[in-house]
Amino acid sequence: MLNMAMVVITATLVIFLMCSSSSEAILQKRLQLPSPLTGPESLAFDLTGGGPYVGSSDGRIFKYIGQDEGFIEYASTSRNRDKTLCDGLADFSELQATCGRPLGLGFNQQTGDLYVADAYFGLVKVAPGGENVTHIFGSENAYATRFTDGLDVDPETGIVYFTEASTNFRFKDFETLIDSEDKSGSLLKYDPSTDQTTVLLGNLAMPSGVAVSSDGSFVLVGEYLANRIQRVWLKGPNAFSSELFMPLAGSPNNIKRNSRDQFWISVNGIFRSPIFQRNINFPTGVKVSENRIILQIVSLISEYGTESASEIQDYNGTLYSGSLQASYATIFTTLL
Ligand SMILES: *[C@@H]1O[C@H](CO)[C@@H](O)[C@H](O)[C@H]1NC(C)=O
Ligand SMILES: *[C@@H]1O[C@H](CO)[C@@H](O)[C@H](O)[C@H]1NC(C)=O
Repeated sequence: MLNMAMVVITATLVIFLMCSSSSEAILQKRLQLPSPLTGPESLAFDLTGGGPYVGSSDGRIFKYIGQDEGFIEYASTSRNRDKTLCDGLADFSELQATCGRPLGLGFNQQTGDLYVADAYFGLVKVAPGGENVTHIFGSENAYATRFTDGLDVDPETGIVYFTEASTNFRFKDFETLIDSEDKSGSLLKYDPSTDQTTVLLGNLAMPSGVAVSSDGSFVLVGEYLANRIQRVWLKGPNAFSSELFMPLAGSPNNIKRNSRDQFWISVNGIFRSPIFQRNINFPTGVKVSENRIILQIVSLISEYGTESASEIQDYNGTLYSGSLQASYATIFTTLL
């Protein structure tokens, strides 16, 4: 019965996604990474609104400083990164295990520290200026089977929420992982005031994106392989219990809160095409309220084709998107 209900909900969402209620993203500008780099998976803005800062395929973090100069190098996550070996690595590479692969990014809004979820090096902190890099959690396991993915920083407390997508598969085994039924992922919390890292929720099916509410009362975590968003309460009578926040018609990647306490979820829906006789991916952005109401759906198919989007972010009234495959971050608008 439950399965039947899920099928109905999923089918409804699929129809919803493909109907007129979803609008098409209108491209404004592409922010190109230095060639041949790819994969600005996540975007972050610093205390003065500078950026976006993005990670890239060769392990470096870049800061966008404007139309003329574009992206400039800001930091890297690997401790002894060999520039000769690493600089210019495009796309997926086994070398990322030594060069680093920054995924989720977020600034501490008080200190200006940039926190990075590096797929291989775990939780990493970059002090303002980009020079002083501290490995906080997971560095001792750089070669173990770890895959750190999403990240968000509580704007008030500075507590960092991040996801370990899997402990059985590494980032380089991504293709195998997404075809698996892995449930070894977890949502973790790092408190800079105590320097302690704790697990908030385990047994997750490839937890990808994470976002904390602006008042710190709950955190959302997406399960890529389970097509759903879970909510973990952090305060109040239900503190530390979790509930289903929203089932989705596709795999959720990053989740980003905007200044109006709404969340943009990057959802990649896989549909079987009767015409092409194969699976086709539809990258979309879904905006939801704290009360689980779907406010807006934007298709990014014109921007990414059938490649995946990894993040949609509404920063200071401008919409941005990122992708693991593209060589650029995108600024777009919608008709709504
Ligand atoms: C936000 O946008 C406004 C108007 O577009 C601009 O004046 C302001 O400088 C921006 N703020 C930041 C922090 O980027
Ligand atoms: C670098 O950061 C670490 C951890 O935050 C701190 O203990 C250390 O003093 C910093 N080093 C420098 C040179 O600023």
